[in-house]
Amino acid sequence: MNEMTLRFFSKPVNEPFARTSVVAFLMPLNPSVEEIMEIKTMVAEAVTNAMIHGYEGREDGVIEIKAAYDENRTLTLTVQDEGCGIADIELAMQPLYTSKAYLERSGMGMTIMDTFADDFKVNSSEGNGCIVQMRKQLHGQTEPAH
Ligand SMILES: Nc1ncnc2c1ncn2[C@@H]1O[C@H](COP(=O)(O)OP(=O)(O)OP(=O)(O)O)[C@@H](O)[C@H]1O
Ligand SMILES: [Mg+2]
Repeated sequence: MNEMTLRFFSKPVNEPFARTSVVAFLMPLNPSVEEIMEIKTMVAEAVTNAMIHGYEGREDGVIEIKAAYDENRTLTLTVQDEGCGIADIELAMQPLYTSKAYLERSGMGMTIMDTFADDFKVNSSEGNGCIVQMRKQLHGQTEPAH
């Protein structure tokens, strides 16, 4: 078992930092290119949601990511914010639902995370921040890297 925690401010510049850091942490598992792409996307969607929805663009909010994997290469990722929270989680999780159509969001972030994760959970209530939990089984590269 191995685990790490990352805490950073809700500044847009930290979004690439977050996804690269998670991937760097997973390097000992020798993930495939496809797995790396999917994990980067999952982290990017969750962190972007925390920034634009949770903290509504405020850059002094704190976002916390925990990443862990076990001996079976099962990855668990949690992304947490202490922002405005979600009143209706079922609605928020529907494909194409967005509360920020004026920002030209497509409402697909939750659906994308759900697709790439083997298990995807959102825990939130209005005014109480949001925790996104994702589990993903990694298989690694099928051929050793040259
Ligand atoms: N961390 C969060 N805090 C508060 N509300 C959230 C959070 N994450 C998601 N939401 C709500 O859930 C809705 C759906 O999120 P989703 O990521 O699917 O779409 P989006 O962010 O609006 O668009 P896209 O991800 O395609 O740019 C958001 O519009 C927002 O209302
Ligand atoms: Mg989104």
